[in-house]
Amino acid sequence: MFTSTTDRGPETPIRLMVIIGSVRPGRVGLSVALWVHEHVTARGGFDIDFVDLAELNLPPVDEHRLPRTGQYGRKHTAAWSERVQNADAFLFVSPEINSSFSPCLKNALDFLFSEWSRKPVGLVSYGGKGGGAFGVAALRPVLSDLGLVTASSHLNISRVSEQVDDGFFLPSDDQIARLDGLLDELRALAPALRSVRESTLVAS
Ligand SMILES: Cc1cc2nc3c(=O)[nH]c(=O)nc-3n(C[C@H](O)[C@H](O)[C@H](O)COP(=O)(O)O)c2cc1C
Repeated sequence: MFTSTTDRGPETPIRLMVIIGSVRPGRVGLSVALWVHEHVTARGGFDIDFVDLAELNLPPVDEHRLPRTGQYGRKHTAAWSERVQNADAFLFVSPEINSSFSPCLKNALDFLFSEWSRKPVGLVSYGGKGGGAFGVAALRPVLSDLGLVTASSHLNISRVSEQVDDGFFLPSDDQIARLDGLLDELRALAPALRSVRESTLVAS
């Protein structure tokens, strides 16, 4: 959960939600996401809410009304809504599964609608040979439907398990540079899109 207040001055850290898109026992994604968390923390400028979908434990979407209504009957949806609403930007760490992206990430996205809208998202994908490129291609239209703005920089990690040792992901210099590029873009997009959200609220 975020600890910051509602004061959103220019120097205020960006509230970045990092979501681990795998719930599988023995998942490699946890090592990748922990490296992302550590790198973002060391870099500074972001207030991180680390979401482990295994801990969040959402059921398959079980709401009666459509997410666009914003009317939720389940406690877990209301809690998830509040948490996502509080984020300024997102970073999804997702495996490639059968040439698509993580089904549990899709389910977590499908629960909500306006909470995602006009916010930036960065993608870190990983997998076997493909490095998650097909997963990212499948994810992009979903993000677009939800009004998320996808950063053009991204990090694809091929043969991810070869870079994990004793639970630690060991990044290459190029991967660190790519993650930094992604974070730079989120830093630029988050305040700009916050202004868009605020002006839209005033206009409507
Ligand atoms: C059912 C299944 C399908 C997969 N399909 C792909 C695929 O299409 N492309 C790919 O690059 N890797 C594929 N993989 C490899 C996974 O991306 C890789 O095992 C990854 O580590 C899974 O993430 P996790 O360990 O965090 O759960 C697949 C793995 C599984 C279990």
